[in-house]
Amino acid sequence: MEKLKIVDLFAGAGGWTTGLKAAGHEVIWAVDNWEPAIETYRAEHGNHIDKIDVMDLSSDHEKLLEADVIVGSPPCKRFSLLNKKRDYDLSLTQTFLNLTKSKPFVMENVPMVKKIVETNLNEYGGRNYLVKLKNFGVPQHRTRFVKTNILRLDGFMPEIETDISYYLPFLDKVNGMEAFPNHSKRIEEKMSEVEPGTQHPDHRFGVYYRIPRSGVSQCIVNVTKAMTIHPKFNRRLRAQEAAVLQTFPVDYKFQGNIGQRAEQVGNAVPPRFAYYIGLYLKYWWCEKPSLDDIDAHRSIWEKIYKEGNQKKYNGYRNWESFK
Ligand SMILES: C[S@@+](CC[C@H](N)C(=O)[O-])C[C@H]1O[C@@H](n2cnc3c(N)ncnc32)[C@H](O)[C@@H]1O
Repeated sequence: MEKLKIVDLFAGAGGWTTGLKAAGHEVIWAVDNWEPAIETYRAEHGNHIDKIDVMDLSSDHEKLLEADVIVGSPPCKRFSLLNKKRDYDLSLTQTFLNLTKSKPFVMENVPMVKKIVETNLNEYGGRNYLVKLKNFGVPQHRTRFVKTNILRLDGFMPEIETDISYYLPFLDKVNGMEAFPNHSKRIEEKMSEVEPGTQHPDHRFGVYYRIPRSGVSQCIVNVTKAMTIHPKFNRRLRAQEAAVLQTFPVDYKFQGNIGQRAEQVGNAVPPRFAYYIGLYLKYWWCEKPSLDDIDAHRSIWEKIYKEGNQKKYNGYRNWESFK
């Protein structure tokens, strides 16, 4: 099996890294500049993460030269729909694209960045895709922009079946890892009025959303900022539970205070998605088909789904071997 050397820029708590390792790759270097996320990454994956401002890196850094593939998720706060200001600072995205100019890369970001990149950073190579992560085993309506100069993510890919009911039993296993949130009686009452898979019927409380018991959930964001309610109980989801629905192993330990942990979870690339991309990289590496060779990419996807579907998420530390 091909084990690629991968660099993870803007690595955060390690969503990309977790999935890529599950697919058998080695992440040789990771970079972030936010201490709580770096602590999480170190505790889970080791000391190969450095606290560096990506803006200070140059493309001839020895680790970038050594990498077979560079992945990264330049932060999306300024572009996110949750951020009312929506000012478009492209500097980190552009920095990522400058650093990866002569390397195979996969960049992930929120959907609206696609248009902005197409309008303002059109000179960079590769292709731009909007990808639905529910087609990659992630039980959420989470669409992401992916830019890559090596992989094809167009419509011919087969889809895998995803149902949140598969993940819900693992919510019960998040015990003792995080305190329960404290709500007032009034908030609990409001929560009790929300049916699974819906928002509160009164639009004034529309931010209240209860996780469904089957099907696919709304996109999981920072649970201390959104009112994401547990499927069975009248309380918001704990960060560690949100992490399960982000497809992290149940006992993946996020560091920092509750707000910082919830932020890391909401920010993360779901490992299950990263895992499928990791399988893709493995087969791509063997053949290195051109982006125009649709048949070659289609046959790679057939292999990926055959391999990917044989393995089940078991929610535990040994996620890699999910038997
Ligand atoms: C969208 S999150 C990345 C999530 C991560 N890829 C994962 O899968 O868990 C963006 C990350 O970029 C980091 N970041 C923001 N500005 C940075 C900079 N100038 N240099 C390095 N890291 C930065 C943030 O601390 C945050 O962890």
